[in-house]
Amino acid sequence: MKILVIGQGGREHALAWKLSQSKKSKIIFVAPGNGGTSTEEKCVNVNIKADDFPGIRKFIIEKQIDLVVIGPEDPLVNGLVNYLEDLNILVFGPCSNGARLEGSKIFSKKFLFENDIPTGKASFFSDPASAYSFLDSCVYPIVLKADGLAAGKGVLVSKNIQEAKEWVDLVMNNSLFGAAGENILIEECLYGTELSFMGIMTPSEFIPFETSVDYKPLLDGNKGPNTGGMGCISPSPFMNDTLREKVMKKVVYPTINGLNEMGVSYYGFMYFGLMVKDDEPQVLEFNCRLGDPETQCLMMQMESDLVDCLEDALDNKQVAISWKKGSSMGVVIASNGYPEKYKTKIPIEIGNLEDLKLFHAGTNIVNNELLTSGGRVFSVNYSGSSLEECVSCIYNRIDEIKFDGTIYRKDIGKIYES
Ligand code: AMP
Ligand code: GLY
Repeated sequence: MKILVIGQGGREHALAWKLSQSKKSKIIFVAPGNGGTSTEEKCVNVNIKADDFPGIRKFIIEKQIDLVVIGPEDPLVNGLVNYLEDLNILVFGPCSNGARLEGSKIFSKKFLFENDIPTGKASFFSDPASAYSFLDSCVYPIVLKADGLAAGKGVLVSKNIQEAKEWVDLVMNNSLFGAAGENILIEECLYGTELSFMGIMTPSEFIPFETSVDYKPLLDGNKGPNTGGMGCISPSPFMNDTLREKVMKKVVYPTINGLNEMGVSYYGFMYFGLMVKDDEPQVLEFNCRLGDPETQCLMMQMESDLVDCLEDALDNKQVAISWKKGSSMGVVIASNGYPEKYKTKIPIEIGNLEDLKLFHAGTNIVNNELLTSGGRVFSVNYSGSSLEECVSCIYNRIDEIKFDGTIYRKDIGKIYES
């Protein structure tokens, strides 16, 4: 099979790596890929960006691609799957109507309300004056969200009214996130433990992946600004059978039914971002894709052949996924300044990593030299018999990865109750 993976992050590196292990895969093109994907067995980078739909289509036809796997949300929300529909090849990812669950937070909140799926209360605003006056009556902290895609930066958990009003001013009056912030939500703050619950969704079933926990804040102790994710462990220590059943019954099945009722045939990954308190899940967000850095952890743990899983799901066959026992963990190495401004094109040196798996994110190879090209640069991963083993193996060797301005959390693997 000839496979095309769309995207360039750590998630796409992990997907390409896992797809390359399938007996069915002959070659995996990654568009545009990164400095890591180009060095994996069977993998080849292609210089086509994820938003270049005509370029992608032309490449698929020229190379006679059999299966396309789309990693990031933007091309999904912008209709890449619809655009490729008439080619009659396997494309794994939801159409734009399905991806709206991530593309518009107002749409997804209304969907949650309409389908009685547990979630926080929220109000919607399209002009700053009414948002300001609503903020006068709020109890803090409160959560503010831009409606559209904002590269993972569109949410603020605000401690006080001044901060909240400043955010509204920046987002609605000064277009901090462009059109994505023309409409906003102001949402009740939920408390508990966050859980990333992902899997493969079709119109008739959801096959859950192993659970995982993303360490979102930048700094140790879960302090500092939110990021795309600074590390991950799998499985989540908070998961149990009661909670799993509740998530399936109260969240997953109503989502499948709601999508079917809207006439959306959803085939793709689905990521439920959940807040859990006393084994009761509430939905924080839907993502129409897999998480990053969660995917890196999960692909290390998945025993099944990913090509088989995706093919079976697209073919409406029963999908069975088996997982290794034990634990999986990843620590993200970012570039100083992330998640705000950071330098790029910094030379990288990689020493002896022994049994660790290094997934690249913001790297590329220029004239045979590996350079940084993004804020999150690597995810350093290990899969072993216990979380303690993962912690010690990763932190013993992480400094073998050197570039000017490395930052990483030293406490990934530590369990934070809330
Ligand atoms: P979202 O993109 O909606 O998942 O928001 C990003 C992050 O903001 C989540 O992972 C949570 O850490 C936090 N967050 C979002 N919504 C809420 C909420 N209602 N209460 C508390 N934290 C939230
Ligand atoms: N790690 C969180 C996300 O991918 O949305």
